[in-house]
Amino acid sequence: MIISVSGKGGTGKTTIAALILKALIEETDKTVLMVDADPSTNAPIVLNIPVEKTVGDVVNVFRKKVLDTTELGLDKSRVIETWIMEILKETPRFDLLAMGRSEGEGCYCYVNAVLTSILDRLSSNYDVVLMDMEAGLEHLSRRTDRDVDIMLVVTDPSKMSLETARRIKELIPEVHVEVRKLYVVGNRIPDEDSESYAKTVRDYGLELAGTVPLDPNILSYSMKGLSILELPDDSPSYLAVKRICEKVGIL
Ligand SMILES: Nc1ncnc2c1ncn2[C@@H]1O[C@H](COP(=O)(O)OP(=O)(O)OP(=O)(O)O)[C@@H](O)[C@H]1O
Ligand SMILES: [Mg+2]
Repeated sequence: MIISVSGKGGTGKTTIAALILKALIEETDKTVLMVDADPSTNAPIVLNIPVEKTVGDVVNVFRKKVLDTTELGLDKSRVIETWIMEILKETPRFDLLAMGRSEGEGCYCYVNAVLTSILDRLSSNYDVVLMDMEAGLEHLSRRTDRDVDIMLVVTDPSKMSLETARRIKELIPEVHVEVRKLYVVGNRIPDEDSESYAKTVRDYGLELAGTVPLDPNILSYSMKGLSILELPDDSPSYLAVKRICEKVGIL
């Protein structure tokens, strides 16, 4: 199962993705690959797992040192695959891969094709691949999502974030990314407003997976640099995310 978490900047994508990861780890035996697909690489901070190198770093070195060499017998795709396996962060319950950012413009079709096939092969080793996407719509045109089973678009009480959700839904067929199911997750929505929020989401022609309240535990954990995975199990945000996971079939 491939799940991607997208939405407007600052709505809570990384936080919600981390809470879904917590639910998968604690409630299931599934093997999980978390992919930080945001070039600014925030997931390792929220999860408190240091990541030294990203796929972008690997690609940069590869372009400079390997791509132009004509050394006979050197299988270049094997080189990049080995390097990516080296930067894959393994923890007892899940693995983490940070995509980062690679330098330079232009089409590196060979590198992109190799990367896609490596990531596809890697993804097929896990029961669940959970992707924390870059803010906005750009990831769709770059097709970093490829095909996903469930896309959760995180929104906050602002109309602007719902507008982004609507644009994402509209763009999906245009960029030929296959998304089997798309839901909105309302973040920082007070419980007493969840009914009216659900109506607003319906009016936008979107389907709501559920709402997550503002959670003071999240603030104190992020201020202390503690992992969201360690959040108490009775935290209101975690309970809400678990309900969402059950509703959309992640749990
Ligand atoms: N339900 C919540 N309750 C309290 N704080 C929250 C909640 N959701 C997110 N936050 C806080 O809001 C801030 C933004 O959240 P987060 O980094 O997850 O957003 P994002 O959408 O991933 O941002 P970006 O677009 O920069 O990647 C963080 O400081 C996070 O701790
Ligand atoms: Mg983020």
